Amino acid sequence: MEILPEIKNRMTSRSFQNIPIPDETLERILNAGRLAPSAKNRQPWRFIVLTDPEIKEQLKQSAYGDERFSEAPVVIAVCTTNIGYRMPNGELSYPMDLSFAVSFMMIQAEHEKLNSAVITTYQEDEVKNLLTIPYSMKVVMMLLIGKAVENSDKEIRLPMNRVVSFDHW
Ligand SMILES: Cc1cc2nc3c(=O)[nH]c(=O)nc-3n(C[C@H](O)[C@H](O)[C@H](O)COP(=O)(O)O)c2cc1C
Repeated sequence: MEILPEIKNRMTSRSFQNIPIPDETLERILNAGRLAPSAKNRQPWRFIVLTDPEIKEQLKQSAYGDERFSEAPVVIAVCTTNIGYRMPNGELSYPMDLSFAVSFMMIQAEHEKLNSAVITTYQEDEVKNLLTIPYSMKVVMMLLIGKAVENSDKEIRLPMNRVVSFDHW
């Protein structure tokens, strides 16, 4: 049984080509996020899609000049709509819920022969001001999507025997 190529080949893009993404493709990627699971099915997310070069340029300033914000044709600000809910195990649900949604969007993007990058290095207060995000909400991640310029430096992973155990820790 093969690992899905979308999982095996995905890499964080270090640089993007500024080639627009067709509307239908973007819609499928967003729909993949919408279909992700969330605790109690609360779906505490809002995906703000940013394609305007001027806004992306301003985001770049808030992201310490990361060029990928102006290069990538689509930037998605992955925001919360509800940050208070804790799951029965005591953990906050929103970081996990949003991570599932982002994972689904990344996998769909790969399936569409596109690449992606999750970025968390930005000044959130500036981004919130720019995108008129309510004070009580959070911008948890930015998901950049586009065609990578080149993507050859595969990051290595810990071996299976370091991350998996059976029957005990
Ligand atoms: C929660 C999270 C936050 C991340 N934040 C950043 C970031 O701010 N800037 C960046 O360049 N990459 C960021 N990354 C990408 C990781 O550095 C990358 O996924 C990791 O090094 C493994 O490489 P790969 O995605 O190419 O397999 C983030 C990834 C995750 C999952």
